[in-house]
Amino acid sequence: DLSQHESVWLFGYGSLIYKVDFPYLERQPASIEGWSRRFWQGSHDHRGTPEQPGRVLTLIKTPGERCTGMAYRVSPDVFEHLDHREKNGYLRFFTPMTFTDGTQAEGLVYIATEDNAAFLGEADEADIAKHIADSVGPSGKNTEYLLKLSDGLAELGVTDPHVEAIRRHLEPMLQDEP
Ligand code: BEZ
Repeated sequence: DLSQHESVWLFGYGSLIYKVDFPYLERQPASIEGWSRRFWQGSHDHRGTPEQPGRVLTLIKTPGERCTGMAYRVSPDVFEHLDHREKNGYLRFFTPMTFTDGTQAEGLVYIATEDNAAFLGEADEADIAKHIADSVGPSGKNTEYLLKLSDGLAELGVTDPHVEAIRRHLEPMLQDEP
């Protein structure tokens, strides 16, 4: 029961890096071991529609890899807002996180596992880019999600090969847009 805690760490690896629409007590870059971010989750409610879902991030178990993101220390009430914002197939679990100075803490992280109805799974990065270029939903263009995420990671000093490969495939498709 989260309400027993005065504050809880939340580990963000996707839109939580660039869209911070919740109050936090402090934030620190952090990483989690054994996971990587992948555009393998369908988005019916933010970057696509039920008829034409967009592609957004989830975490995939990848032994030997680390996923770097941003950890926020938040009041437990923040999860009421976020559980609503991230309702499309995500659940949350506690995982160990490592901060840049090497100290560790447990943090909550949202994940969409392959058994959720919106899961799309692996595809070629070129096909993922095409899919993202063609998708739009109530939160805006799927391309905006990819570009804001990539810029947010750059600010953190992180280069994610999967994200950057998709961005390289996507960029020529964007050139006609204002
Ligand atoms: C994240 O940024 O960690 C995140 C955002 C939305 C859904 C799942 C994860």
